[in-house]
Amino acid sequence: MINIKEHLNKILCGDCSQILQDIPDNSVDLVLTSPPYFQQRDYGGGGIGNENKVEDFINNLIKIFRECVRVTKQTGTIVFNLGDKYIDGNLLLVPYRFAIEAMKDKSVKLINELTWVKVNPAPKQCLKKLIPATEPFFIFAKTDDYYFNKDAFLEYRDKYLNGNKRKAGNDVGKKYFELIEKSDLSSEEKLQAKKELNEVIMDAQQGKIESFRMKIRGLHALPYGGQAGGRLTQIENKGFTIIKIYGNSIRKDVIESNVETIQGNKHPAVYPEFIIQEIIKLLTKEGDVVLDPFLGSGTTAVVAQRLRRNYIGIEIHPEFVEYAKERILQNSNNYTLDLFI
Ligand SMILES: C[S@@+](CC[C@H](N)C(=O)[O-])C[C@H]1O[C@@H](n2cnc3c(N)ncnc32)[C@H](O)[C@@H]1O
Repeated sequence: MINIKEHLNKILCGDCSQILQDIPDNSVDLVLTSPPYFQQRDYGGGGIGNENKVEDFINNLIKIFRECVRVTKQTGTIVFNLGDKYIDGNLLLVPYRFAIEAMKDKSVKLINELTWVKVNPAPKQCLKKLIPATEPFFIFAKTDDYYFNKDAFLEYRDKYLNGNKRKAGNDVGKKYFELIEKSDLSSEEKLQAKKELNEVIMDAQQGKIESFRMKIRGLHALPYGGQAGGRLTQIENKGFTIIKIYGNSIRKDVIESNVETIQGNKHPAVYPEFIIQEIIKLLTKEGDVVLDPFLGSGTTAVVAQRLRRNYIGIEIHPEFVEYAKERILQNSNNYTLDLFI
């Protein structure tokens, strides 16, 4: 076993199925990687991807995935990005075959499928097929105690795009006063409802919240399912409930980005720095360790370094190792956070 500290911020050249075996259990916060896609291209360094049968590819990939799980801390996560493949005009669903196989071992849970929507997909000409424009990033966790900073994911939207949030006008909430009057709440309940309505209107007018909804007993449908709980109890006990809307954009399992084209990049399959940035911010903190066992041109390491995380990269092709080192060096003084699409 290697001492993990000695390998921080290094790129190891070789086959990850071998090198991973030397990394200690529970030592990495995030494994973030894009393995070769099935029969997509020959990178020239050997490794996986060009097996004859998709089943053999999945088996080889799963062995590496299991090692990734082993080296990940109990609070950590493992993210695999995979593309699909047509053979004889038939879509193989390779990413999903992998994800289903990965979950068979109960040591991980698939917590999200983050879909990359490609703004500029390769315009492959096929008259009778739509152009594939998405790829999944599967996010697996080892325990329920995984680190997850949801607010950091696509946070620029809140910081910049919601910056000009409109404050509510004078009419906000008026209809609820009329509804309270019309309702069959007791006079004490009506008084309390109007008091709380006035408070929430002030919050909206001062821009503390974006807006709100009110539900009044006898007038509005009762909350059910996941929304019930405390709200249902409030309606039953005091006759109404107020739902504040804070305006932070909700975090969806979708991320849009161009397909990456870095001038002079010597690697044919680079994934976008923007997506890697958002995933690293979502799943790690400064000082954490991010491992990419299929490092390619070094994107994961470049972004990890920029975000002040430690990286460990493994890549089988010596030329890509050298190129990744160059990229990392060029970016070593670049601590500009937040690339935007
Ligand atoms: C899809 S590319 C990764 C690209 C990378 N995400 C980037 O942005 O540059 C997959 C890489 O895995 C490497 N590879 C294939 N089999 C490998 C193995 N067994 N061990 C380590 N690297 C391997 C290939 O040489 C290739 O560079």
